[in-house]
Amino acid sequence: MNEKTKQVVVITGGNSGIGRGIAQAFAHQHAQLIVIGRNQASLAATAQALGRETVWLQADVGKRDDVAAVVEKIVEQFQRVDVLVNAAGFTQTVTTATPLAEAESLWDAVLDTNLKGSFLMSVAIAPFLSRPGGRIINMSSIGSFTGGSRAGALAYASSKAGLNGLTYALARELSSQGITVNAVAPGFVQGTGFTGAWPEQLVQDIVSQIPVGRAGETSDIAEAVLFLASAQASFITGEILNVNGGWLFGR
Ligand SMILES: NC(=O)c1ccc[n+]([C@@H]2O[C@H](COP(=O)([O-])OP(=O)(O)OC[C@H]3O[C@@H](n4cnc5c(N)ncnc54)[C@H](OP(=O)(O)O)[C@@H]3O)[C@@H](O)[C@H]2O)c1
Repeated sequence: MNEKTKQVVVITGGNSGIGRGIAQAFAHQHAQLIVIGRNQASLAATAQALGRETVWLQADVGKRDDVAAVVEKIVEQFQRVDVLVNAAGFTQTVTTATPLAEAESLWDAVLDTNLKGSFLMSVAIAPFLSRPGGRIINMSSIGSFTGGSRAGALAYASSKAGLNGLTYALARELSSQGITVNAVAPGFVQGTGFTGAWPEQLVQDIVSQIPVGRAGETSDIAEAVLFLASAQASFITGEILNVNGGWLFGR
């Protein structure tokens, strides 16, 4: 594959967990990868592991200036983007018992990355997405439908439900230009920064509720993303694809 025909793929949060699994899957397809995160050390280590051509850029996706700067660099180097995967995200425990000022700042932090970050990245990159054939794929969550598996997801579930709405609205606007916009909603995925510290008993309880009888792997999510990014998925847009082993279906 020569430089001009390589898929140019931008992955926020591509330096850990699900985003890194997605980056590995695209690397096997010889895509030109651009990985974005905040932690320089893990960005550099990820890029080295993925192959010499992987580009890494440091940005906080919740900050407009950071987003504008990285998109300028991407466009300068590659002129276009074929696939944007908005995988950067995290959670903080927020319940009705959280003191109000603390609850507000945790809410702002979670919404800034999970929702505003995906919004800023999408708006900044949209003018440079391939037409036709461009793809935006957002990383939603089962929590956007369930409110989370236990108390504490006030900010997180809201951010991911908002991300579903953003997915629909972007699909409404961009699909006529040959760009599809979808989301993947993972259930429980092990081997991530997100779930790595969950107590073993909680993990066993969750797995016992999953009909296929196992936890998700980052590769399960990556395969779904590869499909949505492929030409075979050109008639799918505005969809939130559950990838959760049946933990939730029929929504
Ligand atoms: N794991 C699960 O079971 C699960 C289930 C449903 C949904 N998800 C979603 O999947 C996505 C990936 O999560 P994960 O489980 O793979 O967790 P993870 O291993 O902690 O990865 C999160 C990634 O997001 C990046 N990130 C966080 N805040 C950022 C910011 N403000 N700007 C730029 N990058 C930022 C992190 O990089 P830096 O630290 O370098 O910033 C890291 O690469 C998240 O959106 C999460 O909500 C996960």
